[in-house]
Amino acid sequence: MESISQRKKDHIQICLTQNVQSAGNTTGLEAYRFIPEALPEIDFESIHTETRFLHKPLKVPFIVSSMTGGTTEALQINRTLASAAEARGWGFGIGSVRAALENPEVRSSFIVRDVAPTVPIFTNLGAVQLNYGYGVEQCRAALELLQADGIVLHLNSMQEIFQPEGDTNFSGLLEKIRVLCTQLEAPVGIKEVGFGIHGELAAKLYEAGVAFVDVAGAGGTSWIEVEKHRAKDPQLQLAADTFAEWGLPTADCIVQARACSPNGFLIASGGIHNGLHAAKTLALGADLCGFGRRLLEPAIEGEAALDKLMARLEFELKAAMFGIGCKSLAELKGTSKLVRTAPPPARA
Ligand SMILES: Cc1cc2nc3c(=O)[nH]c(=O)nc-3n(C[C@H](O)[C@H](O)[C@H](O)COP(=O)(O)O)c2cc1C
Repeated sequence: MESISQRKKDHIQICLTQNVQSAGNTTGLEAYRFIPEALPEIDFESIHTETRFLHKPLKVPFIVSSMTGGTTEALQINRTLASAAEARGWGFGIGSVRAALENPEVRSSFIVRDVAPTVPIFTNLGAVQLNYGYGVEQCRAALELLQADGIVLHLNSMQEIFQPEGDTNFSGLLEKIRVLCTQLEAPVGIKEVGFGIHGELAAKLYEAGVAFVDVAGAGGTSWIEVEKHRAKDPQLQLAADTFAEWGLPTADCIVQARACSPNGFLIASGGIHNGLHAAKTLALGADLCGFGRRLLEPAIEGEAALDKLMARLEFELKAAMFGIGCKSLAELKGTSKLVRTAPPPARA
């Protein structure tokens, strides 16, 4: 189990010190622009961004994407992120809790409910673990550990094959997800980790009973790139370079998922670095927007730095809403003021 904790340490270190930005992709959000409303006819102070997630209120449609756990450093990061999420009314996702389920010694590194008593918290496991002995019991334990309001299972197939110790049997998982959704009392969500979920898959997942889909599209952190920095095998490193372009950009994921599933609860994430990006994802049809690696450095710096960034992200969202004359998230979601200024990518 030492190996899971060591891997988590490596991941944080690599994400902080190496260039792990997707080299061959952008989020696609730069292809969209808001048409400014010179006469917005609203009072900036009257803009509302409140919403709900996992049956609890949020002050803004933002979540901390699932990142870390299982080490002393991760505990500090998680507690800072969770406490800031509580203060600002964001949802909070923890990194995979598998390490804690398999090694009780690291359980304490996932304890955050005391600093985030009211906001929605979701726990996290790899969906592939359903093929490696995990089932409803382990998911219940993952929920209990965090006193979480829901669980998100991550789909990280491409990361696993580039990871020397990866679990690579992804067969039959949709059916197992379907069964889990019927057995588990809490909501089950599905996320990718930065290569995206296309529209047809999102529709299949909703049909299987998942409560939310987080597209975690391409254009931000690339987990092939992260694993490349851990790999000792030059063959894997060269193959990782070949796959620099892998992934469906975040903007395309949202457009596709919304087209295929008009009512599914949809989270946009993957390469979201500012509040204008977030506003674009919401205008494209997402219900919430998630921030991952963008929060990591300030979380290590401390809560003041993190709070400052989160406040700016919120201001930027409101500024975009003001700039197009939208008072509420419902108005932003249906806006005709987001236009595509670049042609859609050519289909192969
Ligand atoms: C240090 C780090 C650790 C991560 N660990 C997990 C994890 O345990 N489970 C998970 O579902 N996603 C994990 N992710 C992926 C993020 O949730 C997110 O989907 C991905 O980084 C893309 O978003 P970004 O471009 O905003 O970073 C991790 C990301 C980072 C930066």
